[in-house]
Amino acid sequence: MFKEKKYGRTAKNIPKGFNSANDFFEYLFNNKDIIWMGQNTNHLHEEDYIYNGMAECLKSREYSKYPPSEGFSELKKLILNDLNLNDSDILISSGGTDSLYLAMNVILEPQHNVITSDPGYLIIDNFASRFANDVIQVPIYSEECDYKLTPKLVKENMNENTKVIILVDPLNPLGTSYTSKEIEEFAKIAIENDIYLIHDVTYKDFAREHHSIANYAPNNSITIYSFSKIFGMAGLRIGAMISNHDIISGVKTIIINDLGTNIVAQAGAIAGLKSKDKWLDDVVKTTRNNQRLIKSMIDNVDDVFIVNYPSDGNMLAIDIEKTGINSEELAEYLLDKNIFTRGGNYTSPNFGDKYLRVSFSIPEKEVKIFNQEFPKAIEILRTK
Ligand SMILES: Cc1ncc(COP(=O)(O)O)c(C=O)c1O
Repeated sequence: MFKEKKYGRTAKNIPKGFNSANDFFEYLFNNKDIIWMGQNTNHLHEEDYIYNGMAECLKSREYSKYPPSEGFSELKKLILNDLNLNDSDILISSGGTDSLYLAMNVILEPQHNVITSDPGYLIIDNFASRFANDVIQVPIYSEECDYKLTPKLVKENMNENTKVIILVDPLNPLGTSYTSKEIEEFAKIAIENDIYLIHDVTYKDFAREHHSIANYAPNNSITIYSFSKIFGMAGLRIGAMISNHDIISGVKTIIINDLGTNIVAQAGAIAGLKSKDKWLDDVVKTTRNNQRLIKSMIDNVDDVFIVNYPSDGNMLAIDIEKTGINSEELAEYLLDKNIFTRGGNYTSPNFGDKYLRVSFSIPEKEVKIFNQEFPKAIEILRTK
């Protein structure tokens, strides 16, 4: 009989009225009026560079062929160039998610433990738990550590079995990011202890500054890259992992999709990187302005605050603990108004009740609707 895996993920917090998470997301997908603030995706691309790149690929009908299994060289070079890591090795994957899984698989042995943060992007923790003995979720929901996993916290929590430190930079859900000094300190810890840093840079282009760990610890780091956020290509499922030759060679021996990554997505990714300097500023400018609009609204609502402002991502967390409102209830209330946000439990086992996560790489007029509805939601739910 089928036996559930010890690390199997049970679906939590399925919104009321839905039988499964899939039903919920299909409902969201099919409801074209939904304001999409619940997935950190980017809805701001109005130009056609990426679209045209994919359209050309479709017209050529070359999708009848399998692509080269590790990705087109042109795309690999463009990503390495974007990261300024031209001497590294790279593997194209079906999203940062695949790369995160492969990174855990290639490094971890059953005696190891992994250090990560709470709040954090919990899918990584789940992947780690499949290969390691323990996942140490360091609490970071505190001003004392600037709401991030610091080198000091890592030193306090690591032991002789620690093999991986996960740095999501900027962090989903709080938007905290790292200075060059901190990145250098992390690199030192990794090299001295013969361990690996997984540097997930999915949100790097929204940040005011970004520093690559691979520049300081090329042999002790794996960089995770995604086309889902700044490129606005989440539905295309494409990303990459970048590391030294040994690690990437090791990964090539354990990849699942031996027949390569979607050829249309690769064409879009190539077009996205080639045109990046033409659209990046506009996307970032609108995103930052949206964040300012949300901040002005939040400043006028009693008992709530933005946990980390400004966020260096395209999402932020709004602390609602003092209102006494449950974050899932707030998310459900807003969904009734066609605004999709996320209760904190999606990104935190221990602090999830305290905050609502909202992303804001969406048109300004939609942010304004959120800004009208959020204060009303707080007033109505507070009196319940
Ligand atoms: C930190 C982080 N890494 C990876 C991903 C997923 O990336 P992809 O869509 O490329 O699989 C997400 C998605 O929200 C994320 O927040």
